[in-house]
Amino acid sequence: MKYTVIVANNETDFGIKAASAFTQAVRQYDKPDVILPTGNTPLPFYAALREMRAKKIPAFFYRQLDEYLGLWAGHRKLFLEEMKRNLLEPLRIGASLSFNGAADPQGEFMRVVTAMKSLKPAKIGVIGIGGNGHVGFNEPGSSFFDGARIIKLAQKTREDNSKDWEFQDGPFPTHAITLGIRDLRELEQTILLVRGEGKAEILAKALTGPVTQDVPASYLQNQRNMTVIADRTALSKMPGFNPPL
Ligand code: PGA
Repeated sequence: MKYTVIVANNETDFGIKAASAFTQAVRQYDKPDVILPTGNTPLPFYAALREMRAKKIPAFFYRQLDEYLGLWAGHRKLFLEEMKRNLLEPLRIGASLSFNGAADPQGEFMRVVTAMKSLKPAKIGVIGIGGNGHVGFNEPGSSFFDGARIIKLAQKTREDNSKDWEFQDGPFPTHAITLGIRDLRELEQTILLVRGEGKAEILAKALTGPVTQDVPASYLQNQRNMTVIADRTALSKMPGFNPPL
């Protein structure tokens, strides 16, 4: 397995390094489709992109990675709403595929599967890793051959993600829609973003442990062209990791 690790010294540095790796990847294509993540990890990355002059960001189309199901339209915790606030609206970026988390789940699933058939595989994907090793919402047990589908959220994911959920947000979702690991394996370039001590153990397990469906992110060990952008705490449990300060 070969990949490049870029060590971030702080949050701002993380964002700048991620934005730089990302724009470098996008520049290699003509308006590529890119998969982008939500959650806390990528926030400095989006902040850095917003700081760059829009002119300096090569054109691309956003393809959604995952989304909660069963929330109301416009719910502030819908990933698409977050993406609109953090990136799509400030930088006027269009989407080649987005999910409607407020639609009837089965109908939305059918629409997404049909849409995916008419789309070429995305070229670039920026992804994060969940505390249980999920990627997108491919929870432990997901096959590396699965495509887009509806998934029941794992208990660990519900615990982690409901931490910043407020009373007015209503009950935390039980299900989500996600692109599959099959879709992620097709990427030509993968940028993995990882921040914080809480991810150290799972990152080491994913990249240096057995390749297994129990740790969905372990598929990354066979991924071509991967760049890992991580802070020191996230890298602290990687065997042999000891970069100079
Ligand atoms: P986080 O989520 O960035 O909020 O930790 C990552 C994930 O669950 O994939």
